[in-house]
Amino acid sequence: MMVLLRQVREEDFEKILNWRNEPQVRKNSFNQKEISRNEHLDYWHKRIKSAEYDFIISHNGIDVGLLRLDKREEKAYEVNIMIDPKHQGLGIGSDAIKEIKKIAKARGIKKLIGRVKHGNVGSNKIFEKNEFQLRYVVYELDIE
Ligand SMILES: CC(C)(COP(=O)(O)OP(=O)(O)OC[C@H]1O[C@@H](n2cnc3c(N)ncnc32)[C@H](O)[C@@H]1OP(=O)(O)O)[C@@H](O)C(=O)NCCC(=O)NCCS
Repeated sequence: MMVLLRQVREEDFEKILNWRNEPQVRKNSFNQKEISRNEHLDYWHKRIKSAEYDFIISHNGIDVGLLRLDKREEKAYEVNIMIDPKHQGLGIGSDAIKEIKKIAKARGIKKLIGRVKHGNVGSNKIFEKNEFQLRYVVYELDIE
C-alpha cells in the first residue's frame, strides 16, 4: 500500500469541499456546519495560493483525503485530517500521519498537535499509533 502526500492544487477545490461535507466527516469535525461554496472559496483564497501546509493524501494513485497543518505557535502545528468515508479503515490515515511527521521534521517543525473530539476512535488511534502522547482533556458545559 502506497500513501503519499502532495501539495494541494487548483483543481482540488471541488474534491475537498465534497469530502468536508460528507456527514461522517462533519460529525467528527469541530465545526459541524455544512460548508458553503463561498466559505470554501474564502479558505481557498487564504490558503491554497501558497498551499505549503495543505496536502492531498493519495492512496495507490487515487486522491482520498486532505491533511492540513494549522499554525498554533512558533514551530507548532495542528494536524487536520479527513479521509473520504469510502476509503476509511484501510490504514491510510495512520500512514498519512507517518508521512507528515517526516515532512514536519524536514521543515524544522518542533511539535505536531492532534485535537480530537471525544469518541472519535479512528482519530485517537492514528495519533497514538504514531507516538503522539495524550496530554490534555477538555470538559465543556452548554448553559441552556
Ligand atoms: C479519523 C480518520 C482520519 C482516520 O483515518 P483512517 O484512514 O480511517 O484510519 P486508519 O484506517 O489508519 O485506522 C486507524 C485505526 O482506527 C480504527 N478505526 C478507523 N475508523 C474507525 C471507526 N470509525 N471506529 C472504530 N475504529 C476505527 C482502524 O480500525 C484502525 O485500527 P487498528 O490500527 O487497530 O487496525 C478518518 O476516519 C476520517 O477522516 N474521519 C472523519 C474526519 C475526522 O474525524 N478527522 C479527524 C479530526 S482530528
